Amino acid sequence: MTTLLEPYPLADFTLPNRVVMAPMTRSRAMNHAPNESTATYYAQRASAGLIVAEGAPISRQGRGYLWTPGIYTKEQLDGW
Ligand SMILES: Cc1cc2nc3c(=O)[nH]c(=O)nc-3n(C[C@H](O)[C@H](O)[C@H](O)COP(=O)(O)O)c2cc1C
Repeated sequence: MTTLLEPYPLADFTLPNRVVMAPMTRSRAMNHAPNESTATYYAQRASAGLIVAEGAPISRQGRGYLWTPGIYTKEQLDGW
């Protein structure tokens, strides 16, 4: 029987287990850039087989929520 904690082959990767974390809107990037709390959040969950990161707006106009970490300024790119 296959169990949740067994590896899973996914295209070119082998996930260490079958736990997949769905994306969640964290709204904790007060300056709209990934910060220390972003790193802590993902480090705490890094034993999952796969993490789908939160939505990252690609422009100011594309922002749906406050305090989500974007990916369109130098500060944001450096943060990621
Ligand atoms: C960018 C993005 C952000 C999301 N943020 C949340 C969230 O904050 N809370 C939440 O319950 N679901 C959020 N969702 C939806 C979840 O990822 C997930 O699809 C939902 O909880 C339903 O789970 P299920 O498909 O396993 O039933 C988000 C989805 C996307 C694409």
